[in-house]
Amino acid sequence: MKIVVIGGSGLIGSRVVSQLRQRGHDVLAASPSTGVNTVTGEGLKDAFAGADVVVDVANSPSFETDAAMAFFEAAGRNIFAAEKAAGVKLHVALSVVGTERLTEFGYFGAKLAQERAIENSGVPYTIVRATQFFEFVGGIAQSATQGETLHVPPARIQPMAADDVAAAVVDAALSPGKGMIEVAGPESFPMDQLIRTYLAAKKDRKEVITDPAARYFGIAVDDRSLTPDAGARLGKITFDEWLRRDQTAAA
Ligand SMILES: NC(=O)c1ccc[n+]([C@@H]2O[C@H](COP(=O)([O-])OP(=O)(O)OC[C@H]3O[C@@H](n4cnc5c(N)ncnc54)[C@H](OP(=O)(O)O)[C@@H]3O)[C@@H](O)[C@H]2O)c1
Repeated sequence: MKIVVIGGSGLIGSRVVSQLRQRGHDVLAASPSTGVNTVTGEGLKDAFAGADVVVDVANSPSFETDAAMAFFEAAGRNIFAAEKAAGVKLHVALSVVGTERLTEFGYFGAKLAQERAIENSGVPYTIVRATQFFEFVGGIAQSATQGETLHVPPARIQPMAADDVAAAVVDAALSPGKGMIEVAGPESFPMDQLIRTYLAAKKDRKEVITDPAARYFGIAVDDRSLTPDAGARLGKITFDEWLRRDQTAAA
């Protein structure tokens, strides 16, 4: 089966490409660095020729509201026109658990617009909504840092390894369209506890202050904001195991 992975050079995309190739599929990793640009439409017709499935795990280079909205709107228009012309049978995309609860940060409004465009495209689809990647926990810590302290809310978060996200996207690409599904990590944590564990593993001595009023990228969050519904597929890799692998890789 020919599968095009848009964003195939990215954190998730590179894992999806290698997992699909290991299963023997004909995979094209498509991104601006390989001459395929979803915003301008460059290279899409040739990339999609003969493709059965398109997996879109690209991301906007800018998280600023207007730039992210322009990215996902233009990408959606170009991708669905090219998919219909090529007779693509399934579109799989990666989004974020709780997107509609997070729109105080404009990027999530753009992700919601991406999801709506997929639902209205007429192409059979699976939207895989994932929780925050373990690889993104350092970015959460960074955003909460003020000098030598971090202000972090105790709201629950259920992050997961990029390898488990990729495995869920691969399964979606090899199954009939399911509409919207959720995937999450095997355990949930209060966010302040997660960040303390992360900083300790990195031997970072900054102090984490538990602050229920602190925001997550400017968003007021509670235990429901970032966590999945009952019935979400859960990844296998725990945060402790991921930290051990991360430390081994860095050694
Ligand atoms: N961070 C999280 O915790 C989290 C949680 C849930 C879901 N997600 C979602 O996961 C998705 C993938 O994230 P990621 O971290 O794997 O992304 P990433 O590592 O930043 O990779 C982005 C990819 O998009 C490609 N790209 C950028 N502009 C493009 C364009 N105009 N046309 C085609 N491809 C383009 C890049 O290609 P080049 O390398 O050629 O520039 C790269 O392959 C995103 O949609 C994000 O919303 C993220």
